[in-house]
Amino acid sequence: MNQKNKRISLNLIIRKSSIVCLTAYTAPIARLVDKFADIILVGDSVGPVLYGSKSTREVNLEMMIRHAKSVVENSENAFIVVDMPYGTYERSKHDALKNARRIISRTGAMGVKLEGGEKIHKTIKFLTENNIIVMGHLGMLPQSLKGRPKVFGRKEQERKKLLKDIVLLENAGVFSVVIECTLKSLVDEVVALSELPIIGIGASSRCKGQVVVTEDILGMTEFNPKFLKKYLKFAKVANKSIKQFTTDVKNKKYPKKNQCYS
Ligand code: KIV
Repeated sequence: MNQKNKRISLNLIIRKSSIVCLTAYTAPIARLVDKFADIILVGDSVGPVLYGSKSTREVNLEMMIRHAKSVVENSENAFIVVDMPYGTYERSKHDALKNARRIISRTGAMGVKLEGGEKIHKTIKFLTENNIIVMGHLGMLPQSLKGRPKVFGRKEQERKKLLKDIVLLENAGVFSVVIECTLKSLVDEVVALSELPIIGIGASSRCKGQVVVTEDILGMTEFNPKFLKKYLKFAKVANKSIKQFTTDVKNKKYPKKNQCYS
């Protein structure tokens, strides 16, 4: 795939009234979501979702590169953004640039996403000044989690922080910001304040776009937060099919003659 460049451009995405963003880490899911998504995010949620790890902090650069390469090679329409994993952009802006360039050159992805505001806005500015396309990520930040995830923005200091961070990221040159698991009234305030396309997850329908983990909406994971709408009960359907296969094998009903080579 991907011989002719028919991918949606950033300019077109920014001008859209609604942005659809779905995650993919593998070839089959990339092929599935590429028909619909404006942006495919190769998220570091790959750790918990595919590898069963407890935190996204267990994901490293090589894992992200391997999955992102597969997603780029198995899609042709969407704009591909890759999460910079924990530990690859915090040390220094030069280290961040080296790792962002590595992700982009080894995968063919179009942009990267970094979590945080005030702490990393100078690094993000350095990346955008060096022609790296960057998506921001504010609100609840999985890479910084201590303990269980909590809705962001209930405290006045969190509200002030988000309103400040969105301006810092806008000035740093991000093309869009994901806001995760944040009080709706606060997200609405940010959407009204900022020129940036805000992409929500557990946020608000007023956001220009929505992002979800594809395996979550298909019912392939056991993740079940309030914000999630499951569009398919995959595990239930899969369970029934696997049970039927098991019965067929035990009763010598599979393979049948027409499923054998003669
Ligand atoms: O890693 C991820 O999938 C994400 C989305 C949930 C926004 O960052």
